[in-house]
Amino acid sequence: MCTVTCIASINIAVIKYWGKRDEVLILPVNDSISATLDTDHLHAKTTVMTSSTFKEDRIWLNGKEEEIKNPRLQNCLTQIRKRARNSNQWKVHICSENNFPTAAGLASSAAGYACLVVALAKLYQIEDDITSIARSGSGSACRSVMGGFVKWCMGSESNGADSIAKQIVPASHWPEMRILILVVNDTKKKISSSIGMKRTIETSDLMQHRIKHVLPNRIKIIEQAIIEKDFKTFAEHTIKDSNQMHAVCLDAYPPVVYMNDVSHTIINFVHAYNEAVNEVKVAYTFDAGPNATLYLLEESVPEFMGVLDHFFPPGINLEQYRKGLTFKEVINSQEL
Ligand code: ADP
Ligand code: DP6
Ligand code: CO
Repeated sequence: MCTVTCIASINIAVIKYWGKRDEVLILPVNDSISATLDTDHLHAKTTVMTSSTFKEDRIWLNGKEEEIKNPRLQNCLTQIRKRARNSNQWKVHICSENNFPTAAGLASSAAGYACLVVALAKLYQIEDDITSIARSGSGSACRSVMGGFVKWCMGSESNGADSIAKQIVPASHWPEMRILILVVNDTKKKISSSIGMKRTIETSDLMQHRIKHVLPNRIKIIEQAIIEKDFKTFAEHTIKDSNQMHAVCLDAYPPVVYMNDVSHTIINFVHAYNEAVNEVKVAYTFDAGPNATLYLLEESVPEFMGVLDHFFPPGINLEQYRKGLTFKEVINSQEL
């Protein structure tokens, strides 16, 4: 029997992946950029095992057996076996746990598929790029294979060979960067990212404007801001990109709505704070759900947390407001 266990953490995009040009291979319509969180915090932990006694491939997620015939899982397994350097034909058993809510808009698919593919690659001794395999499980997963700031290049080949993720800078490049996640709601989302982005690309006119006229330039600007550690530029484009993703969602028909009243209260709060301190000190971004991720520098954390506690005091009678306060402080990303 051979066993490998790995941990991979979530990543939160500052330039959002939203829309596929190929649904099966999971090829995106734009480049995207994210930061991978420290593995101490929100992560998936996956053990993969092979044995001559196993009769079939099987997977357990958070203690419950899941369907192994899931096409995305099959994509990953097939590609791994094709590239395997050893001739292990034994069946595989996969056991994975997330230490945070699954399918709730907190990027479990990113951590989950990255972790699975990294563990399988170790088991099958694959040493070349595996981000394209992780991508075929869930697009955002290709960026969680690495730490630091990571860019997923959309690529141009029809087989997806060049649609891979690359590290822009390691976490150590910007050690002052902090990420706070304000959990507004951690229940399963009603419209999955896959369905939301499919509807957007099929029905939103604004989406064409985003892809053709906004993103090419924005990607260059934010990449440069990360390299130069220019927080103001980084924050402004992070905020604008989150708002544009949710604007194209709203432009879909029927509209795709992920943010709620608490999300909008957080947006107003961050803008009011930045105006009050006369500087862009905090950036927010929202994935396919109501939860906010804030990017800020270490020096801003104590004051910002004080103001947050003042305006969102613990004990407010609304469940979502209380949850809004249970933030997690994530130091920053690290290599796996
Ligand atoms: P999220 O916002 O959490 O990424 P998605 O709808 O994108 O939600 O993806 C959720 C799906 O990702 C799950 O239903 C499951 O199929 C897959 N997934 C999540 N965590 C894992 C994991 N640890 N291992 C394998 N697959 C996972
Ligand atoms: C809003 O990677 O979950 O988080 O490729 O269909 O599995 P699939 O979608 P997924 O979408 C993530 C969307 C996002 C933005 C991002 O992470 O870039
Ligand atoms: Co996801």
